[in-house]
Amino acid sequence: MEFRKKNTGSRKIKKVSLVFSVFYITTVFGFSFVTFCNSKKTSLKEQLIDHKISTLMDTTELNQNGENPLEGNAEAIAKGAVHYSTMCSVCHGTGAQGSTGPDLLDNAWLHGNDNYATYNIIMNGIRLENMKMNPPRGKMPPYKNILGSHKILEIMAWLADQKSKLKENPDN
Ligand code: HEC
Repeated sequence: MEFRKKNTGSRKIKKVSLVFSVFYITTVFGFSFVTFCNSKKTSLKEQLIDHKISTLMDTTELNQNGENPLEGNAEAIAKGAVHYSTMCSVCHGTGAQGSTGPDLLDNAWLHGNDNYATYNIIMNGIRLENMKMNPPRGKMPPYKNILGSHKILEIMAWLADQKSKLKENPDN
């Protein structure tokens, strides 16, 4: 008799602990899920703030002699390719060989054939009164606040790399 009693008692305990575990697991899982979703939300917000701060505090610049410090840097070139295709290819063509905006790989420059001119144009855009395409094809927007100087130098590193590849293969 005593044994039986004990047995039903432990069964009850088992049941209670099972119910408790299910409740516990559901609560913990639910809570973690909600926290996870919220953390995603804040991290997106944080990412935006980080992006703004990093573009505003960007200190990468052209070297004193006008050289791009990121030229030839494989990582910068790869990132530049991505920025170019999302921000510039609509107007300058996927391969930068011109569309609405001018060819960026030829030697015919409308606004100056050096890094200073190119950097300045991408940072500040081209004002309506300074546009040179004839007939006018639209505006070249400023990217100082959208990309910041580091990303712009990455794009310029990619453009320089594309240019050197064109030179290696004159059939293109
Ligand atoms: C909305 C279309 C548009 C977008 C987007 C755009 N551009 Fe332009 N870009 C132009 C036009 C149009 C001109 C030429 C304006 C003129 O002088 O008539 C130009 C001119 C330029 C020039 C000067 C070319 C020269 O011959 O001197 C450079 C360099 C340039 N763009 C780079 C970029 C880069 C890099 C991006 C992306 C970050 C970009 N552009 C995005 C339209 C655009």
